[in-house]
Amino acid sequence: MTRKKLIAGNWKMNKTSAEAVALALEIVQAAGKQSEVDIVVCPPFTALESVSKAVDGSLVKLGAQNMHFEASGAFTGEVSAPMLRAFFATHVILGHSERRSLFGETDELVNRKVLAALKNQLRPIICVGESLAEREAGSTLKVVQAQTEKALEGVSRELAPAIIIAYEPVWAIGTGKVATTEQAQEVHAFIRGILTKLLGEALAQRVRILYGGSMKPANAPELLAQKDIDGGLIGGASLEARSFLELVRAAAGAA
Ligand code: PGA
Repeated sequence: MTRKKLIAGNWKMNKTSAEAVALALEIVQAAGKQSEVDIVVCPPFTALESVSKAVDGSLVKLGAQNMHFEASGAFTGEVSAPMLRAFFATHVILGHSERRSLFGETDELVNRKVLAALKNQLRPIICVGESLAEREAGSTLKVVQAQTEKALEGVSRELAPAIIIAYEPVWAIGTGKVATTEQAQEVHAFIRGILTKLLGEALAQRVRILYGGSMKPANAPELLAQKDIDGGLIGGASLEARSFLELVRAAAGAA
Protein backbone atom coordinates (compact mmCIF):
# COMPACT_ATOMS: atom_id res chain seq x y z
CA MET A 1 0.00 0.00 0.00
CA THR A 2 1.53 3.30 -1.00
CA ARG A 3 0.05 6.29 0.68
CA LYS A 4 0.45 9.63 -1.05
CA LYS A 5 2.61 11.90 1.05
CA LEU A 6 1.03 15.02 2.50
CA ILE A 7 2.79 18.22 3.54
CA ALA A 8 0.64 20.59 5.60
CA GLY A 9 1.65 24.07 6.70
CA ASN A 10 0.35 25.17 10.08
CA TRP A 11 0.83 28.91 9.97
CA LYS A 12 -0.46 29.32 13.54
CA MET A 13 -1.08 32.96 14.59
CA ASN A 14 1.12 34.38 11.86
CA LYS A 15 0.49 36.47 8.75
CA THR A 16 -2.07 39.09 7.94
CA SER A 17 -4.43 38.34 5.10
CA ALA A 18 -2.15 40.12 2.60
CA GLU A 19 0.98 38.33 3.84
CA ALA A 20 -0.83 35.01 3.72
CA VAL A 21 -1.91 35.57 0.12
CA ALA A 22 1.66 36.39 -0.88
CA LEU A 23 2.94 33.15 0.64
CA ALA A 24 0.08 31.10 -0.81
CA LEU A 25 0.73 32.51 -4.28
CA GLU A 26 4.42 31.59 -4.10
CA ILE A 27 3.47 28.03 -3.18
CA VAL A 28 0.85 27.85 -5.92
CA GLN A 29 3.27 29.15 -8.49
CA ALA A 30 5.98 26.65 -7.63
CA ALA A 31 3.94 23.57 -6.74
CA GLY A 32 0.29 24.23 -7.53
CA LYS A 33 0.24 21.86 -10.49
CA GLN A 34 2.20 18.92 -9.12
CA SER A 35 0.16 15.98 -7.90
CA GLU A 36 2.93 13.79 -6.49
CA VAL A 37 2.47 15.21 -2.99
CA ASP A 38 -0.69 16.59 -1.38
CA ILE A 39 -0.18 20.13 -0.10
CA VAL A 40 -2.42 21.79 2.48
CA VAL A 41 -1.97 25.32 3.82
CA CYS A 42 -3.63 26.30 7.10
CA PRO A 43 -3.69 30.07 7.56
CA PRO A 44 -5.40 31.83 10.47
CA PHE A 45 -9.18 32.29 10.17
CA THR A 46 -8.78 35.91 9.08
CA ALA A 47 -6.89 34.85 5.96
CA LEU A 48 -8.99 31.85 4.97
CA GLU A 49 -11.13 33.67 2.45
CA SER A 50 -8.25 35.45 0.71
CA VAL A 51 -6.04 32.35 0.67
CA SER A 52 -8.97 30.34 -0.65
CA LYS A 53 -9.02 32.65 -3.66
CA ALA A 54 -5.23 32.49 -4.00
CA VAL A 55 -5.19 28.69 -4.22
CA ASP A 56 -8.33 28.44 -6.34
CA GLY A 57 -7.67 26.52 -9.55
CA SER A 58 -4.50 24.90 -8.16
CA LEU A 59 -3.98 21.58 -6.40
CA VAL A 60 -3.02 23.32 -3.14
CA LYS A 61 -5.70 22.64 -0.55
CA LEU A 62 -6.97 24.84 2.25
CA GLY A 63 -7.20 23.92 5.92
CA ALA A 64 -8.18 25.67 9.14
CA GLN A 65 -6.35 25.37 12.45
CA ASN A 66 -9.36 24.74 14.68
CA MET A 67 -13.17 24.83 14.71
CA HIS A 68 -16.13 24.47 17.04
CA PHE A 69 -18.17 21.26 16.96
CA GLU A 70 -21.55 22.98 16.67
CA ALA A 71 -22.73 24.30 13.32
CA SER A 72 -23.90 27.65 14.69
CA GLY A 73 -25.09 29.34 17.86
CA ALA A 74 -24.08 31.44 20.84
CA PHE A 75 -20.35 30.59 20.92
CA THR A 76 -18.63 33.97 20.91
CA GLY A 77 -15.32 33.92 19.09
CA GLU A 78 -15.80 30.48 17.57
CA VAL A 79 -15.99 29.30 13.95
CA SER A 80 -17.93 26.27 12.66
CA ALA A 81 -17.37 23.56 10.07
CA PRO A 82 -20.03 24.90 7.66
CA MET A 83 -18.33 28.32 7.83
CA LEU A 84 -15.01 26.73 6.88
CA ARG A 85 -16.65 24.79 4.08
CA ALA A 86 -18.07 28.03 2.73
CA PHE A 87 -14.46 29.09 2.06
CA PHE A 88 -13.81 25.75 0.35
CA ALA A 89 -11.63 24.49 3.17
CA THR A 90 -11.09 20.75 2.91
CA HIS A 91 -9.02 20.09 6.04
CA VAL A 92 -8.97 21.18 9.67
CA ILE A 93 -6.25 20.70 12.29
CA LEU A 94 -7.83 19.43 15.51
CA GLY A 95 -6.39 18.91 18.98
CA HIS A 96 -3.08 20.60 18.32
CA SER A 97 -0.99 20.49 21.49
CA GLU A 98 -1.15 24.29 21.73
CA ARG A 99 -4.97 24.03 21.78
CA ARG A 100 -4.74 21.32 24.40
CA SER A 101 -2.21 22.98 26.69
CA LEU A 102 -3.01 26.69 26.26
CA PHE A 103 -6.77 26.52 25.64
CA GLY A 104 -7.77 23.54 27.74
CA GLU A 105 -8.92 21.21 24.97
CA THR A 106 -9.62 17.73 26.26
CA ASP A 107 -9.68 14.39 24.44
CA GLU A 108 -13.50 14.49 24.69
CA LEU A 109 -13.68 17.90 23.05
CA VAL A 110 -11.28 16.84 20.29
CA ASN A 111 -13.49 13.80 19.65
CA ARG A 112 -16.61 15.97 19.27
CA LYS A 113 -14.75 18.17 16.81
CA VAL A 114 -13.50 15.17 14.82
CA LEU A 115 -17.06 13.84 14.45
CA ALA A 116 -18.35 17.29 13.47
CA ALA A 117 -15.59 17.74 10.88
CA LEU A 118 -16.31 14.38 9.27
CA LYS A 119 -20.05 15.09 9.24
CA ASN A 120 -19.28 18.25 7.27
CA GLN A 121 -16.89 16.61 4.78
CA LEU A 122 -13.81 18.19 6.33
CA ARG A 123 -10.75 15.98 6.75
CA PRO A 124 -9.53 16.28 10.34
CA ILE A 125 -5.77 16.38 10.93
CA ILE A 126 -5.85 14.98 14.46
CA CYS A 127 -2.81 15.87 16.56
CA VAL A 128 -1.51 13.55 19.25
CA GLY A 129 1.76 13.50 21.14
CA GLU A 130 3.42 13.30 24.51
CA SER A 131 5.02 16.03 26.61
CA LEU A 132 8.66 15.87 27.69
CA ALA A 133 7.66 14.79 31.19
CA GLU A 134 5.50 12.00 29.75
CA ARG A 135 8.33 10.78 27.51
CA GLU A 136 10.79 10.83 30.40
CA ALA A 137 8.30 8.92 32.55
CA GLY A 138 8.12 6.23 29.85
CA SER A 139 4.43 6.85 29.14
CA THR A 140 4.68 8.03 25.51
CA LEU A 141 2.81 5.09 24.02
CA LYS A 142 0.15 5.11 26.71
CA VAL A 143 -0.54 8.83 26.17
CA VAL A 144 -0.62 8.52 22.39
CA GLN A 145 -2.92 5.50 22.60
CA ALA A 146 -5.40 7.27 24.89
CA GLN A 147 -5.45 10.40 22.72
CA THR A 148 -5.84 8.45 19.48
CA GLU A 149 -8.52 6.07 20.72
CA LYS A 150 -10.60 8.84 22.29
CA ALA A 151 -10.29 11.10 19.23
CA LEU A 152 -11.61 8.33 17.00
CA GLU A 153 -14.48 7.18 19.20
CA GLY A 154 -17.63 6.83 17.11
CA VAL A 155 -15.86 7.34 13.75
CA SER A 156 -17.54 5.04 11.25
CA ARG A 157 -15.53 2.75 9.02
CA GLU A 158 -17.09 4.53 6.08
CA LEU A 159 -15.67 7.93 7.10
CA ALA A 160 -12.41 6.66 8.57
CA PRO A 161 -10.35 7.00 5.34
CA ALA A 162 -10.85 10.78 5.57
CA ILE A 163 -8.94 11.08 8.82
CA ILE A 164 -5.30 12.09 9.05
CA ILE A 165 -3.27 11.69 12.23
CA ALA A 166 -0.34 13.94 13.12
CA TYR A 167 2.13 12.64 15.67
CA GLU A 168 3.69 15.69 17.25
CA PRO A 169 5.87 15.12 20.30
CA VAL A 170 5.19 18.30 22.28
CA TRP A 171 8.86 18.66 23.24
CA ALA A 172 9.81 18.87 19.56
CA ILE A 173 7.34 21.60 18.55
CA GLY A 174 9.03 24.90 17.80
CA THR A 175 12.05 23.87 19.86
CA GLY A 176 14.44 22.76 17.15
CA LYS A 177 14.58 19.37 18.89
CA VAL A 178 13.39 16.85 16.38
CA ALA A 179 12.51 13.30 17.34
CA THR A 180 15.02 10.81 15.98
CA THR A 181 13.78 8.80 13.04
CA GLU A 182 13.69 5.72 15.31
CA GLN A 183 11.65 7.54 17.96
CA ALA A 184 9.22 8.86 15.35
CA GLN A 185 8.86 5.60 13.39
CA GLU A 186 8.28 3.66 16.62
CA VAL A 187 5.32 5.85 17.55
CA HIS A 188 3.98 5.96 13.98
CA ALA A 189 4.02 2.17 13.76
CA PHE A 190 2.32 2.02 17.15
CA ILE A 191 -0.42 4.38 15.93
CA ARG A 192 -0.82 2.23 12.80
CA GLY A 193 -1.34 -0.71 15.15
CA ILE A 194 -4.06 1.17 17.05
CA LEU A 195 -5.76 2.00 13.75
CA THR A 196 -5.54 -1.64 12.71
CA LYS A 197 -7.23 -2.70 15.93
CA LEU A 198 -9.96 -0.08 15.56
CA LEU A 199 -10.58 -0.19 11.82
CA GLY A 200 -9.00 -3.35 10.47
CA GLU A 201 -5.85 -3.76 8.41
CA ALA A 202 -7.13 -2.48 5.07
CA LEU A 203 -8.45 0.84 6.39
CA ALA A 204 -5.50 1.35 8.73
CA GLN A 205 -3.15 1.07 5.77
CA ARG A 206 -4.99 3.90 4.04
CA VAL A 207 -4.80 6.46 6.87
CA ARG A 208 -1.92 8.89 6.65
CA ILE A 209 0.14 9.57 9.74
CA LEU A 210 2.13 12.81 9.60
CA TYR A 211 5.10 13.75 11.75
CA GLY A 212 5.24 17.24 13.27
CA GLY A 213 7.81 18.95 15.47
CA SER A 214 10.72 20.95 14.05
CA MET A 215 10.58 19.21 10.68
CA LYS A 216 12.98 21.07 8.41
CA PRO A 217 14.54 20.52 4.99
CA ALA A 218 17.65 19.10 6.71
CA ASN A 219 15.88 16.37 8.70
CA ALA A 220 12.84 15.74 6.48
CA PRO A 221 14.27 13.26 3.94
CA GLU A 222 15.24 10.76 6.64
CA LEU A 223 11.95 11.12 8.51
CA LEU A 224 9.86 10.89 5.34
CA ALA A 225 11.69 7.73 4.27
CA GLN A 226 10.29 5.83 7.25
CA LYS A 227 7.65 3.22 6.50
CA ASP A 228 4.87 4.76 8.56
CA ILE A 229 5.68 8.47 8.16
CA ASP A 230 3.36 9.73 5.47
CA GLY A 231 4.14 13.41 5.51
CA GLY A 232 4.61 16.36 7.79
CA LEU A 233 2.68 18.98 9.72
CA ILE A 234 5.01 21.93 9.53
CA GLY A 235 5.02 25.01 11.74
CA GLY A 236 8.10 27.25 11.60
CA ALA A 237 9.42 25.98 8.26
CA SER A 238 6.02 26.55 6.59
CA LEU A 239 6.17 30.33 7.06
CA GLU A 240 8.55 30.82 4.16
CA ALA A 241 7.90 29.50 0.68
CA ARG A 242 11.47 28.36 0.17
CA SER A 243 11.70 26.00 3.13
CA PHE A 244 8.11 24.79 2.71
CA LEU A 245 8.71 23.96 -0.94
CA GLU A 246 11.90 22.13 -0.02
CA LEU A 247 9.81 19.96 2.27
CA VAL A 248 7.38 19.29 -0.57
CA ARG A 249 10.31 18.22 -2.72
CA ALA A 250 11.65 16.03 0.07
CA ALA A 251 8.26 14.33 0.27
CA ALA A 252 8.19 13.84 -3.50
CA GLY A 253 11.66 12.31 -3.29
CA ALA A 254 10.54 9.92 -0.57
CA ALA A 255 7.33 8.89 -2.35
P1 PGA B 1 7.11 23.33 14.28
O1 PGA B 1 5.52 23.19 14.58
O2 PGA B 1 7.33 22.77 12.91
O3 PGA B 1 7.37 24.82 14.35
O4 PGA B 1 7.82 22.56 15.33
C1 PGA B 1 4.82 22.05 14.22
C2 PGA B 1 3.39 22.17 14.68
O5 PGA B 1 3.18 22.70 15.79
O6 PGA B 1 2.44 21.75 14.00
